[in-house]
Order: sequence, then C-alpha cells, then structure tokens
Amino acid sequence: MEIDKDMMLEVISGLMVIDIEGKLVYINEACADYIKVNREKSIGKDVNLVFPPSTMKEMLKGEKRFNIQYYFTAGRMSASSQFQIRKNGEIVGVLEYDMLEEIEQLDYFLGLYSDALKEEIEYFREQARKFQGTKYSINNIIGSSKKIKDLKEQIEIAAMSTSTVLIEGETGTGKELVAHAIHNLSARAYNDFVKINSAGMTENLIESELFGYVGGAFTGAKTSGKKGKFELADRGTLFIDEINQMPLVIQPKILRALQEGEISPVGSEKDIEVDVRLITASNERLQKLVLEDNFRADLFYRLNVFTITVPPLRERLEDIPELVQQIVFKFNKELGKNISKIESDVYETLSEYDWPGNIRELYNRVESAMNYVQGDTLKKAHFNFRADNSKINMEALKKAENPIEAIKHEAERKLINETLTMFDNNRTKAAEYLKISRPLLYQKMKRLGIK
Ligand SMILES: Nc1ncnc2c1ncn2[C@@H]1O[C@H](COP(=O)(O)OP(=O)(O)OP(=O)(O)O)[C@@H](O)[C@H]1O
Ligand SMILES: [Mg+2]
Repeated sequence: MEIDKDMMLEVISGLMVIDIEGKLVYINEACADYIKVNREKSIGKDVNLVFPPSTMKEMLKGEKRFNIQYYFTAGRMSASSQFQIRKNGEIVGVLEYDMLEEIEQLDYFLGLYSDALKEEIEYFREQARKFQGTKYSINNIIGSSKKIKDLKEQIEIAAMSTSTVLIEGETGTGKELVAHAIHNLSARAYNDFVKINSAGMTENLIESELFGYVGGAFTGAKTSGKKGKFELADRGTLFIDEINQMPLVIQPKILRALQEGEISPVGSEKDIEVDVRLITASNERLQKLVLEDNFRADLFYRLNVFTITVPPLRERLEDIPELVQQIVFKFNKELGKNISKIESDVYETLSEYDWPGNIRELYNRVESAMNYVQGDTLKKAHFNFRADNSKINMEALKKAENPIEAIKHEAERKLINETLTMFDNNRTKAAEYLKISRPLLYQKMKRLGIK
C-alpha cells in the first residue's frame, strides 16, 4: 500500500501553511472543515481573511522558529504549533497545525501535568514536615504575660528530661506549638519529631499507624509492610495529639511501648525495640476521663509524669496586642496588605471577648478583619463581632409563614456559622462546642443551607 504526501497531510488536524506574504498556500480538509471555509476558495487569500484570529503572520517576523498558540474560537479552545519555514536561512512561510483540538484533550493534558505537580507538592510538603522542627521553636510562642513566662519555663524544664509529657489545654491554645518547642530544645532535637492525630480513625488503622504492619498482614496492606510512627520516631519524639480520643483497646499497647520500649507491628511475630520520647496532648482533662472510666488509669499515670497546662487566651488577655501585631505582620504579605497601624480600641474590643477558640480563633478573626482594611490602619470597625444580633428584622419576619420557626432557624444558623468560624470550620470541634453529635451538626447545616 502506497502512502502519498496528501494522505499524510490529511491526518494532521488543522493544518495550514502561508507564504511570506501571509497568503494561504495550503489548508487541509480537516482544517477547512473545522473553521467552516471552502477549501479551494481559501487558497491564495490572506490567512486572516480565512481565519481572522490567526497569528501565523506574526511568525513571519523575528527569530522565533517555533511557537505555541492557543485559540479560543466558537466556544472551543485549541492549541496549535507554529513553525517558520526557511529556505537557505530565509523565512519563506509558516506552517501551523493543531496539537490539541479539543478542550477535553487539553484537560487530559493538564490533568497529567497537575498529577505530576501534585506529586511534587507532596514531596515538598514532606520536606517541610521534616523541617517543621526548626520552624516552631520556643521563640514562636508569643506573649509576655506571667502565664506565658511560666509556660516557657516549664517547656525548658521538660526539654531537659526524657520523661513523658502531657500537654493539656483548650482547643487552639498552642499545644502543638508547645510539643514542638520541647522537642527542639531537647537533646533529641536532631532526630525526628513525628506526629499522629488519630481522632476519627478506626481502631485497626490507629494500630497500624502507630505500630506499623508487616507485608500481607491484612487485605489491602502493602506487600512491603509499613513502619509505624513509633518506629519512625525512634531516637526522636513522638507526639500523639488528642490522646483523649485514643480507643481503650489501643491504650494497653501504648503502655507496653512506654514500659518495655518494645512494639509489635500488626501481623509480626517479632517485637521491635524503640527508643521514643512521648509527648501527648489533650483538650480535655484526662483525669476526668479516667474517673469516668473512659481512659485507662495505668496509661494515664504513665503519661502524666510531667503535665503542662497551656492557658486559654482569656486568662492572658494582656498578650493580645503582641499577638495581633505578630499576626498582622504575618498576614500582611500573604494578603497583599500594608497595615502598619493598629488603633488602640482594636485591643480593647478584642479583650472584651472570651475566645473559646483561643489563639487559632484570634488568627482567624484578625485575618478576616485585615481583608476589610483599605489603607494602612486596622480599626475596630473591621472586626465583625456582629453588633446588632439582638435586633429582629420585623419586616422580613412578616413574610415568613411561621415567624417563630423562622426566627429559631435564623438563630440556629447564626450560632452554627459563628461556631464554625471559631473553630476554623473544624466540624468535630464545632459539634463538641455545641454539645451535639457530628452527624446532627451535618444534618442541621444541610437543613439550614450552611455550606
Ligand atoms: N503563644 C502563641 N504564639 C503564637 N502563636 C500561637 C501561640 N499559641 C498558638 N499559636 C498558634 O495558634 C494556632 C493554634 O495552635 P495549636 O495548633 O498549637 O493549638 P492546639 O492547642 O494544638 O489546638 P487543638 O486542640 O485544636 O489541636 C497555630 O497556628 C499556632 O501556631
Ligand atoms: Mg492541636
């Protein structure tokens, strides 16, 4: 079977060739079809008469031999390659063909690209995680109040020992920051800081995350097995966040790791020796859970050797100015702002609030206030502590079919929105604060149209 040149030119989608004057010397059938022109009649015409958006003529000038051009025509997007055609070094024309004629293909192409990008991001995240150690030091703990000074002193003492540390404190008070600071000041600073938060995981998953598993230990297990966090933290520090949520069946295994310095990966016959310094955090009093039989007393005594209680923000309101300045400084760049002044009544307003979400909530509120700043000054007015919540919109109520239900819903919506803001959209924490179950919170959000 013979293959002639015309056959070759026809399989290429969207092929056009112009001469040095910009006149069309070749257009294949597929292209004529695509841009809806008569093929024969187009030959010899200026390319921009045939296909007005064409940029081929620009390729006739200059040194650029190759170019990629995106076209958006008739609701479709295509990507074309353009080549200068030269003879004895002189430009004599330009050839263009479509690399991607459909947006779908482009999506596919970009998809491949973004997958690669995602992998890369994952890699750098991992690196960042490794360097986290240097990121959070004791100097990142802002505040000059007596409570913060005491806290820093305790961190320094804890860092000198190797005993287990229990960090207690309300949500958003900086427990994780404290754990990092202890590790970084300790003799283990040059080894790894490994973190696990098992809240919401199944018991099986927690076990394999903590202690690892051997190949083929269960269906879906990697054949190579997987190291657990205890092993990864060997000679370093393991930080177990929200230890209060640790299932009772896992607790004895943690106790054993602490007492004997040994762990057994899931499915393994052999035990592994580990040398791990354990730091745990809880946003509830663990002792109280022990009294309620929801936490094992023996493990509690092991964890509670050295307890650090991180104070809530409302007990150290005098730190607010320093914190706000730091936060503004931090977000100025991120938000593209240039805020250099903070009016003093900002601090007053912020000190009147009781901060159930603590420093995390302060971050969120300051950040959202900063979005409203036009000039260089952060003002009280930029904060929305919903001043007028008490007034009822009587006009709107008149339209409601059932005004009492309507106002109840309105109140519920406001409360839920407000609580979600407080906890940075963490629904588990919001549900906890509202003293309802998570599924119920979801239900309510759905019913009230909260995204
Ligand atoms: N004293 C502080 N100075 C500066 N930033 C702080 C301070 N305390 C906390 N932060 C910041 O506040 C945020 C919340 O802190 P962190 O995550 O350590 O809280 P947490 O106590 O672990 O909360 P949760 O119980 O909800 O996990 C973080 O961005 C942290 O960097
Ligand atoms: Mg935390």
